[in-house]
Amino acid sequence: MAALKVGVLISGRGSNLQALLDAAAAPGFPAKIVAVVSNKADAGGLERAKRAGVPAFAIPHKDYKDRESFDRAVDACLREHGVEFICLAGFMRLLSDWFIGQWADRIVNIHPSLLPSFKGLHPQAQALAAGVRLSGCTVHIVRPELDSGPIIVQAAVPVMPDDTPETLEARILTAEHRCYPLALRLIAEKRVHVEGDVVRVDGAAPSADALFHPKAV
Ligand code: GAR
Repeated sequence: MAALKVGVLISGRGSNLQALLDAAAAPGFPAKIVAVVSNKADAGGLERAKRAGVPAFAIPHKDYKDRESFDRAVDACLREHGVEFICLAGFMRLLSDWFIGQWADRIVNIHPSLLPSFKGLHPQAQALAAGVRLSGCTVHIVRPELDSGPIIVQAAVPVMPDDTPETLEARILTAEHRCYPLALRLIAEKRVHVEGDVVRVDGAAPSADALFHPKAV
């Protein structure tokens, strides 16, 4: 099976992009990153793409008169490079309904919370404020509403009593770097099936272990 051609949209440092690039560099990985686009010219992730030999483009949203004209420029760039599937990796812009319609069920996002909890900005601070004992990350199919759509992979991490938003962010990020390559592999192997508002994953081993936190001693 030919490798799935993936475009990655970023806005910042690109550590999730790096996890995808590293995974895709492994022999036999079923997806290939063929283009990286940032809406910010100074995004650190652009350098990561160039180092990996992947075409990288800055398309500053500020240069466009409205959301859809920016989205059309991104769409044209991705198509020019043969992109078949899009991963949002710290891409901090809402996409228009037009763009999401063009790429229906072919865009995924990673978010640092156990969705549908804590959508939007500062989800780690939201988790601390809510006093949850477990948080984590979610890879999901993108739908027009912010941080919404059928869930493909989640990982849970404990929230420690002395956590700050930064320490929790770092713990979740470690999980993100495992989740995103896993999700992309499942997608590229055509094992991810969107059925209405949920995803069915073929042949994945479900984990029946519950994670208790704190543990009774
Ligand atoms: C990641 O934690 C990602 O989950 C989050 O931004 C960070 C980007 O880091 N995305 C969102 O909050 C989207 N709603 P990275 O640039 O190092 O991958």
